[in-house]
Amino acid sequence: MNEVMQSLLSRRSIRSFQNKQVEEEKLQLVLQAAVLAPNGRNQEPWHFTVLQNAEILNKLDELVAGKGNTFFYHAPTLILVSIEEGNPYEQVNTACALTNMMQAAHALDLGSVWCNRINGNHEIDTKLTEYGVPVGYRVTGTLALGYCEGEYPSPREPKKGTINYIR
Ligand SMILES: Cc1cc2nc3c(=O)[nH]c(=O)nc-3n(C[C@H](O)[C@H](O)[C@H](O)COP(=O)(O)O)c2cc1C
Repeated sequence: MNEVMQSLLSRRSIRSFQNKQVEEEKLQLVLQAAVLAPNGRNQEPWHFTVLQNAEILNKLDELVAGKGNTFFYHAPTLILVSIEEGNPYEQVNTACALTNMMQAAHALDLGSVWCNRINGNHEIDTKLTEYGVPVGYRVTGTLALGYCEGEYPSPREPKKGTINYIR
């Protein structure tokens, strides 16, 4: 099968990561996939914040998930997707960027998982601004990124009956 198709059909969400950082070259390719994703009216209403500082990642995880829990699965890299407030395609644009990044990650032998939007409170919002999320932008999704720990999961068995044809 064509390599692109093989990659598209085998990506899975990864929730266990090796203690190994993503190489800069691979990170840049994942980010290129994000900024080149399709987006409504080509407004590019997004910003991507890359967090790779372990102390900051732990602090944010604790703030979001609560002590002793994890929302980001201890990934060595986290990419926050934020969208300009009021953008009519907020969630759709987020999905396009995240999906492109997940597929790029998989093509580069990295693992990733979409972590849902962060339900902000004042403390979290202040931290996000400190980390570079622009004022007037809302974090709408995050990508936990790194090398898969253990065996990469098999392709998912998709739900049956979700496609119909009129020919
Ligand atoms: C909108 C959206 C939100 C998601 N939020 C989370 C999340 O917060 N935590 C998580 O572990 N996975 C999250 N996922 C990943 C899904 O659980 C995953 O894609 C689904 O179970 C299918 O598995 P697969 O990606 O391995 O094919 C999210 C996916 C989407 C599209």
